[in-house]
Amino acid sequence: MTTLHDKVPAGLDRKETEIYRRLDPQRLPRHIAIIMDGNGRWAKRRHMPRVAGHRAGVAAVRSTVETAARVHIPALTLYAFSEENWKKRPTSEVGFLMGLLSRYLKAEVPTLNDNNIRLEYIGRQQELPNDVQDRMEWAREATARNTGMVLTLALNYSARSELVDAFRSIMQAAARNGGIDHLRIDEDMVSRHLYTRHLPDPDLVVRTSGEMRLSNFLLWQLAYAEIYVTPTLWPDFRGVHLLEGIAEYQKRERRYGGLNHHDAHAPAEVVKA
Ligand code: FPP
Repeated sequence: MTTLHDKVPAGLDRKETEIYRRLDPQRLPRHIAIIMDGNGRWAKRRHMPRVAGHRAGVAAVRSTVETAARVHIPALTLYAFSEENWKKRPTSEVGFLMGLLSRYLKAEVPTLNDNNIRLEYIGRQQELPNDVQDRMEWAREATARNTGMVLTLALNYSARSELVDAFRSIMQAAARNGGIDHLRIDEDMVSRHLYTRHLPDPDLVVRTSGEMRLSNFLLWQLAYAEIYVTPTLWPDFRGVHLLEGIAEYQKRERRYGGLNHHDAHAPAEVVKA
């Protein structure tokens, strides 16, 4: 007799298959966000320049994206670089990252298409070099008709800037629609003005290299996300680590500010005045 758990998606390697069999395919996260961290430390441990860590990080991106698509995660968002990275790192490192991104997009579009992955971006794209913006637009267009996983790259991204841009966009929409007297603001409306309006909020956020920070990533959207921190440095991260993160996520009980099932059905405590 075959059960749902026996149906392992094609393309997973032996270790991935082993972990996948322990997962409940009905309770996969709909959206996983990843803070890719530790490239510099990976390189330093090998007495290599920092950029060697970024170069090695591309293999981790490839493996993670392919595994996520194979197990049918609907949305994956990768924090490729923040507004702070962009403004505070040496121009040589930023230039290297731009080149790496451009080459990644050019090389990866056929694989994204093979895996039915649609590419999107969040962040202040307009501040990136023109040639990089052109390449990004080309890759988005080349994958726009895919109907599988949405891969969103956060580039020159800052959650606080995103909120500032959302407030501006709300005010502009109000000005076009009769002024602020008619403005009705609620959570759905704010969400519709964020860069992530094409996505559900992440259920799971993964951070590599052991740091316990959100680093200005999706601050609104991660309100109820489960956080999984792994000591693995980003260049060593692979699809198997993603599946381990999903296994950990499935062990957690999500309460969204409510009670767990047991407490919700227990008799109310008597509170003496
Ligand atoms: C954080 O490591 C990583 C980055 C700032 C860049 C991420 C880029 C990649 C993974 C490769 C290219 C990405 C794509 C999408 C093609 P860090 O430099 O902050 O590491 P450290 O904290 O150890 O110094």
